[in-house]
Amino acid sequence: MAHNLLKGKRGIIFGALDENSIAWKTALKVKEEGGSFVLTNAPIAMRMGKINELAKACDAEVIPADATSEQDLENLFKKATEVLGGKLDFVLHSIGMSPNIRKERPYGDMNYDWFLKTIDISALSFHKTMQTAEKLDAMNEWGSFLALSYIAAQRSYPDYTDMAQAKAMLESIARSYGARYGRLKKVRVNTISQSPTKTTAGAGISGFDVFFDYAQLMSPLGNASAEDCANYIAVMFSDLTRMVTMQNLMHDGGFSGTGITEDLIERLTK
Ligand SMILES: NC(=O)c1ccc[n+]([C@@H]2O[C@H](COP(=O)([O-])OP(=O)(O)OC[C@H]3O[C@@H](n4cnc5c(N)ncnc54)[C@H](O)[C@@H]3O)[C@@H](O)[C@H]2O)c1
Repeated sequence: MAHNLLKGKRGIIFGALDENSIAWKTALKVKEEGGSFVLTNAPIAMRMGKINELAKACDAEVIPADATSEQDLENLFKKATEVLGGKLDFVLHSIGMSPNIRKERPYGDMNYDWFLKTIDISALSFHKTMQTAEKLDAMNEWGSFLALSYIAAQRSYPDYTDMAQAKAMLESIARSYGARYGRLKKVRVNTISQSPTKTTAGAGISGFDVFFDYAQLMSPLGNASAEDCANYIAVMFSDLTRMVTMQNLMHDGGFSGTGITEDLIERLTK
């Protein structure tokens, strides 16, 4: 059911690769809620993914940008404000990639060039995005930036390796930039820490199915789906949450507050 929560709002959605992507579901939800936006992804992902299909469904323009390139980001923000006819109200950073995870390097044998790439793509790009927007004065007052995080920023997960550091940095950037942007322009900056979700990025982590099932058993409400996440994002882009900033918001069915559940006890009782 639509509520017109984002009527008249303009923005940018990064990271829709295919129909499983959290950004894909978000684009559909934002559209349903009356928002208009441009879609963007890395040029390589454009060739592999299905973003044009989504663009058609949302009546949105696609502007390629590698989120690690300040030049690409500048071009993206300039074009987005042109195409949409004014300053922006929301930006979703739904980007993550670790070459070390992709190439299955264990945590005791990290390739440090790749480690830096993980940080650049998955965390620093969020800072670059906001710095670009600030320099171009591309945001309206009370605008909302969101990035997607994971609880591995706070707790260890064996196969999440260098992405855990990237997520910790991402959350820290949200706090620091949120302080700056709030004072400067009343722009809000938050991260959403999402349940394990069956997407290309999620399934790329070895053991994913096991920690998906574990989180399901450990969450009183069960795992939050990509659609649930899209709903939450729409609310965080709306004026209903205008005083929320500099937060890491747990969107995990209660996982982060749970010690153990009856379901898990039953499972482990021989
Ligand atoms: N899937 C999960 O279990 C889960 C859980 C918590 C948080 N997250 C986070 O959610 C976000 C979205 O991931 P997803 O699960 O929807 O997977 P996804 O694979 O659909 O999306 C990841 C996106 O990052 C994009 N990307 C990679 N490098 C880029 C670059 N240099 N420039 C621009 N874009 C680039 C990819 O093209 C892709 O569209 C990520 O930050 C991820 O870490 C995912």
